[in-house]
Amino acid sequence: MNNNNNSNDYVHWSSRWTFIMAATGSAVGLGNIWKFPYITGEYGGGAFVLVYLACILLIGVPVMIAEVLLGRAGRTDPIDSMLILAKESNRSPLWAIIGVFGVCAGLMILMFYSVVAGWALDYVIQSGMGRFIGADASTISDNFTQLTSNNNRQLISHSAFILLTGGVVAAGVTTGIGNGVRILMPLLLALLLVLVGYSMAAGDFFAGLHFMFDTDFDKLCPKPVDGTAASLFTCDAVLVAMGHAFFTLSLGMGAILAYGSYMPKNANIGKTVLTVAALDTLIALLAGLAIFPLVFAYGLEPGSGPGLLFVTLPIAFSQMPAGLLMGSLFFMLIVVAALSSSISLIEPGVAWLEKKGIKRIWGTTGLVGISWIGGCMSIRSADVFNFLDNTTAKFMLPLGGLFIAIFVGWFMSQSRIIEELEIQSPRIYQGWLWTLRIISPLGIIAVFANSLEWF
Ligand code: PFF
Repeated sequence: MNNNNNSNDYVHWSSRWTFIMAATGSAVGLGNIWKFPYITGEYGGGAFVLVYLACILLIGVPVMIAEVLLGRAGRTDPIDSMLILAKESNRSPLWAIIGVFGVCAGLMILMFYSVVAGWALDYVIQSGMGRFIGADASTISDNFTQLTSNNNRQLISHSAFILLTGGVVAAGVTTGIGNGVRILMPLLLALLLVLVGYSMAAGDFFAGLHFMFDTDFDKLCPKPVDGTAASLFTCDAVLVAMGHAFFTLSLGMGAILAYGSYMPKNANIGKTVLTVAALDTLIALLAGLAIFPLVFAYGLEPGSGPGLLFVTLPIAFSQMPAGLLMGSLFFMLIVVAALSSSISLIEPGVAWLEKKGIKRIWGTTGLVGISWIGGCMSIRSADVFNFLDNTTAKFMLPLGGLFIAIFVGWFMSQSRIIEELEIQSPRIYQGWLWTLRIISPLGIIAVFANSLEWF
């Protein structure tokens, strides 16, 4: 990250690659390693993965390009960027609501995200103390139940994680993060590959593979008991898959917009976004390939819910050579991956407050404080936890994405878009523009409409 003010008077990441790393840091997190495998398990596997991949390609990638573009064109926090760009395109300042909405969504996500990251933090210590070595599957599974029913233990790890988040954000996201993720992300990828290798050797790899890639739509949307036909759209799974596409790519709430505002002018947005989306998808699929073969080898339930990661992988660590080291390192990398995502959850809000003259340290303290209180509530009540998770992923992020797609597709000045994107091929540009204008919004609306049973 360079702080040197150049002719455009903005701070920017030192290179396109640093931006890729930072955006990947935001995208790759608990969503990939914890949430993707467990929701894939809950919704029956292959068909869910397929719908999710379609959502990434047809909605996620076009919207991500739009969001980075808004950031780089606006060059400031999400709320002010939207105000500037709306004005520039002679549109209503009300478009800035996208940014306000995003700041709220970020805080709400952090309220349950930090609880799960806290579990990972707790597991770093447990693995380090050798708790999993030689333990059998049922002991390991009971261990997770004990953790989630012990409020004090969760409170300590949640508070520790949220303090870490606050510390990094207060110091300035752009200072350390670029360098941090440059080393830690490849390490996470390498360790995941080792785990997939272990699953191949010790787990039921083919059962895992079949589960993840056989597309049986009946499992995705079970036929209603009253005998009426099930449709792809009248089941919750499609909404969850679409919501997860937004969640995993950190879209629809200004995080990627905020990071885009630091992107150097000479970096190609389209290529960069494709790289980030590909890395994010790769890591999620690898996490699934590490987890499901073990699920089947040990007779566990693929749809066992949020504990899946915290039960399957410790089983692997309990048996593999150097399990103590591997286990602690792996959960530590999950904490780091969660941290590089959580900072992007409050960065838009802090950047906005900073612009309003509130010192970074105080802005961070305020927002982290609000999220900490919300986190305590999610620890006490699973209903609060689920409400925050469902409302943000299923509704707020897709809604934010919908408005971003509509603004960039239909209301932003075309010449401004072309200037930022620098796409050489007019065919590719038109392909992206019309996907953003028609396919992405209609996809989001169709999924909303059907799951809310408007039809
Ligand atoms: N993309 C992150 C993950 O997959 O864990 C979660 C996330 C971070 C969502 C930042 C939204 C966001 F703005």
